[in-house]
Order: sequence, then C-alpha cells, then structure tokens
Amino acid sequence: MLRYFTAGESHGEALIAFLSGLPAGLKVDQAFVDRELWRRQQGYGRGGRMKIERDKAHILSGVRHGKTIGSPISIQLENKDWKNWQESLPVGEGDPAHHKRVASPRPGHADLAGALKYNFPEARYVLERASARESAARVAIGALAKTFLCELGIDVLIHVVAIGNVTMQQEVSWDAIQSLFHQEEILLNCAHRETEQQMKEEVDKVLRNGDSIGGVFEVVAHGVPPGLGTYAQWDERLDALLAAAVMSLQAVKAVEIGSGVSAAASPGSAVHDEIGYGSPVNFTGFTRARNNAGGIEGGVSNGEEIRVRGYLKPISTLRRPLQSVDFSTREPVSAAYERSDVCVVPAAGVAGEAMVALTLARCALDKFGGDSMGETLRNFQGYCVQLKNY
Ligand SMILES: Cc1cc2nc3c(=O)[nH]c(=O)nc-3n(C[C@H](O)[C@H](O)[C@H](O)COP(=O)(O)O)c2cc1C
Repeated sequence: MLRYFTAGESHGEALIAFLSGLPAGLKVDQAFVDRELWRRQQGYGRGGRMKIERDKAHILSGVRHGKTIGSPISIQLENKDWKNWQESLPVGEGDPAHHKRVASPRPGHADLAGALKYNFPEARYVLERASARESAARVAIGALAKTFLCELGIDVLIHVVAIGNVTMQQEVSWDAIQSLFHQEEILLNCAHRETEQQMKEEVDKVLRNGDSIGGVFEVVAHGVPPGLGTYAQWDERLDALLAAAVMSLQAVKAVEIGSGVSAAASPGSAVHDEIGYGSPVNFTGFTRARNNAGGIEGGVSNGEEIRVRGYLKPISTLRRPLQSVDFSTREPVSAAYERSDVCVVPAAGVAGEAMVALTLARCALDKFGGDSMGETLRNFQGYCVQLKNY
C-alpha cells in the first residue's frame, strides 16, 4: 500500500516528505523532481518568498544507484529562510524576546481555529504548519508518483481554468496542456494566451488594491486504464479519494469531477456520455462521444481522461487587512500581515497534480500490486491483455 506523510514548519530548518510502498526498480530522475518543485514556485502573483527559495529535493533514503529499492523514501527540502528564523523559532527553549508573535488572527487562515484547538496564546505555531509551504513536500513525492505512473503510460498535468471572474470557456486538449508543461516561463498556466492576459489583469487589479484573488485549476490524468478504484466500499471510490486528495490542499474549497457542477442543473440526456464501439484504440473498443463524467463512473475509472477541478478561495493574508481582534487585549485591530502571495492558482494546481498522482499511484498499486517494477508491469500488462480480449 502506498502511504505518504509530510513534516516541517514553514520557517523551520526543512520540510520532510515520506513515501512508502513504491516498488523497487523505478528509475528516479532528480532533475525531474526539482523541475516539479520549480513549477510549484511559479505563477504571476506570488510573494517575495519565491525569490528566496529555489527548492531542491535532497533524497535521504529509499533510492540507491538512481533507482527505488522498495524501502521507504524520505526527501528533505531545505528552507533557505531558516537562517533568518533560527533565533525566533528555535527547537530549544531560546529567548522569548526573539519570538515573532502573530498577534491578531487573519480571517480565512487557520490562525484562530488553530490557536483555540492547540491552546496557543497567539498564532505563530499555527501558521508555521498550516501554511502551504507544506505543499512543496507533497510535490516532491508527487513527482515520484508521476514517475511511477509514467511507466504505466499515465500522465498527470494541470492547466488553469479561471482567475477571479475570468474563465476559460472552451475545453482544453491534452496536447495544449502538454505544451503548457514544457514552458520555460509560467505566467498563469492558462492554455489560451488572450484569456491568460485577462487573468493577469485581474491579478494586477488586486495587487493595486492590496487584495487577493482565487480561481480554478484542472488536473487531467491521461492514459488511465478502466478499473482503478471501486464502488465496493465508500472509501475506495476513486472520485471520493480524488476529492479528498485535492480538497486537502490549502485554500481549495470545492472539487469538481468532470462537469459535476453544471450537471446538477442539466437533464440526463445532456450529461451522460453515450457509449459506442469500434476497433480497440487504447485499452478497449468502447468509445465515448464526450467526457462529462470526467473519466469516472461508479467510483471506477472508465478509460477516459480523468478531469478534476480544484476551486481556490482568495488568499487570506491581505495587504489591506480585514478586521480582527488582538489575541492579548481582545481589542479590535487589523488582521496580521506577513509577506504573502496574492494569487496562487497555478502553484496550487501543481500541488493538485501531485495529489492526483499520489492517489492514482495508490489505486494502481492496489490493483496491480508488485514489489518490483518488473512484477507490477507484468501484472499491468496482463490486465491490458484481458481488457483487449474483453
Ligand atoms: C501554493 C499556495 C500558496 C499559498 N500562499 C499563501 C500565502 O502566501 N498567504 C496566505 O495567507 N495564504 C496562502 N495560501 C493559502 C493558505 O495556506 C490557506 O488558506 C490556509 O492554510 C488556511 O487553510 P484553508 O484555506 O484550506 O482553510 C496558499 C495556498 C497555496 C495552495
């Protein structure tokens, strides 16, 4: 079973990611992992921190001579800013005079709920862990999940569908999404140049006003065979697993599979994807004229592209802060401000890719098993033959 965890604080010494359950013999490309980390740091509307950090994955265990060895993988990502925080956020007792308090909770962030839950007098420790710096650790192990899926012919990528009120109307082809992946400069990761410029103008508006903005990304998984996930138990359904995985990302407040949102307001005839049959193309000869289901029916992948959208709320740290209350005096004050992003939709999308890849890799390993890549691939190929002969 594929399992994963992360550890680390935003301004601590490092982040750590653990990934256990990948078969032995998977070739690991350090440059690919680092490029994924770079992609998470891009996008118009990011804060100053992205200029300090250039994440590099330091693989500590589970990979030897360039390949996985079946034992747990741990990866460390150094926090370059740690040198400026050693005194205020020490592991030892340190000097309380150097602590950097977060005196007034930000509406929309974890500050108040976390301080109440853990009985902290202010929110420093809360934001240190709740912050989306953590998502970098997920991207590092997500890159390994993507590498594994690639061996099965599955690719997972994102594109940005909306920033604020500017929305891509047309469906974006897999080829267009692939070209976005190869860009050397990432603006907002939207496949349509003019729409992307309008999106940039939306970000410029909130930058001028000291405000923030959300949006929507879409993760597309291409080449997924039918049969991942199951309707047999509620917690094994692929749609449920993907929804939880994407919803677990900081600031994602809604998840949509396929055309799930508009489907609720449409008649069945306009929603369901009619079935045809021809000569086998990918896995079977069954065809669909469209893909409103987003590649999943009954909690099982159906062989079409999997399409999952993550809806992000606007960032809660505002240069023109909202009203809050001082933790100590309980007097009304402005919410705390700490260097912050203004728009993170492209970056969140890269983390969304990682979460979708980890989920699909887990489901693929549940189905095909295998302790070595040779064994997993034999099982997978046997299943492909079964599908072809169906
Ligand atoms: C890539 C990424 C970067 C983020 N950067 C910031 C940030 O700079 N400032 C901020 O207030 N929130 C930021 N957020 C959102 C917060 O982490 C998130 O709103 C907060 O942890 C509360 O969790 P919730 O929104 O899921 O309820 C970011 C989210 C993502 C996905």
